[in-house]
Amino acid sequence: MIMSFRTLDSLDAAGKRVLLRADLNVPVRGGKITDLTRIERLTPTIRELVSKGAKVIVCSHFDRPKGKRVPEMSLGPVAAALGEVLGQRVRFAEDCIGVPAQQAVDRMASGEVLVLENTRYHAEEEKNDSNFAGELAHLADFYVNDAFSAAHRAHASTEGVAHLLPAYAGRLMQAELEALDAALGNPVRPVAAIVGGAKVSTKLDLLGNLVSKVNALVIGGAMANTFLAAQGIAVGRSLQEAEMHATARQILERAKSAGCEVILPSDAVVANELKPGVATQTVAIASVPADAMILDVGPATVAALVRHLSSWRTLVWNGPLGAFETPPFDAATTAFAKAVADATDKDALRSVAGGGDTVSALRHAGVLDRVSYVSTAGGAFLEWLEGKTLPGVAALG
Ligand code: 3PG
Repeated sequence: MIMSFRTLDSLDAAGKRVLLRADLNVPVRGGKITDLTRIERLTPTIRELVSKGAKVIVCSHFDRPKGKRVPEMSLGPVAAALGEVLGQRVRFAEDCIGVPAQQAVDRMASGEVLVLENTRYHAEEEKNDSNFAGELAHLADFYVNDAFSAAHRAHASTEGVAHLLPAYAGRLMQAELEALDAALGNPVRPVAAIVGGAKVSTKLDLLGNLVSKVNALVIGGAMANTFLAAQGIAVGRSLQEAEMHATARQILERAKSAGCEVILPSDAVVANELKPGVATQTVAIASVPADAMILDVGPATVAALVRHLSSWRTLVWNGPLGAFETPPFDAATTAFAKAVADATDKDALRSVAGGGDTVSALRHAGVLDRVSYVSTAGGAFLEWLEGKTLPGVAALG
């Protein structure tokens, strides 16, 4: 069930100070922002608030400075990038609370945008300290949360302050919640989930939750090896977790009793090492050589998944099918991603993807803009898939 929350539709923001919790935690390499997606996705909310005549006070964490002023983790350069993307002057305050923040807010005119310095420069942020939340709240008349990707953190700027000001979901938060609800809350069935990645141990809660919600669960990536080995299939030198065999069998049992079909690879692309362009062999899953490693699912598995796609109406995707960063082990993920994009184009499928690796894999396949919804969240998307309550979302209810 989608929870109820107020949206910008009911916010009369003219002349008012709006504290906007954004996620400006963008990837940076060598001092340069390498991906503007999070900034771009934020602009509809900011533009709407600006056009309503609000004073838009943006706050966010950036990286993990752990309560200290770490100069490399300043939001100053990110504020400048936001100004460029918006095509509007964006002011910056050297602190998110206290005199610098208050003075900067006092100088704002309607329709202006201000970015406050990294909330995590204060240890009180992560402790969800009520005085700190109070200081943030003091700066504004309303609170808008557009940071779904930080909503799994019960911090002062994501949770505490939502109880101190009238709280609203921004357009990005709203879009994320609506897309996720359509994918798992109230999906058009049959609904399938694809879970890949290296380790069963990091995705236990997720697998446990999914088997009770979806009609089909596809397990790919190295975690499929653990499931295969748990059923007595020899996987050679493949990455797998022997200590998770019993757990994997329990998950299969739970899936069976919940009526969820679990789909594991029927063939595999194997090699002796994970290196670009290495010699490979395609083998049936029961014939993996003892000295080889499974590095991708094989073409028969992809063909079976594509056949399944024509009956699924909703697909949730988290984790690649193979070691896609190292060609040729990107073949299955790329081929399947294209089939998902084609089905989505035909309106035959609603496809929702999230998580850093999955987004990279879809971009690599050239179909990032052809799935129905790509979440900007990493950890929050996973926790949502696990069925957990996200404190930043709950506080808006
Ligand atoms: C993210 O990048 O997933 C969010 O900004 C949360 O960051 P965190 O894991 O440092 O809390």
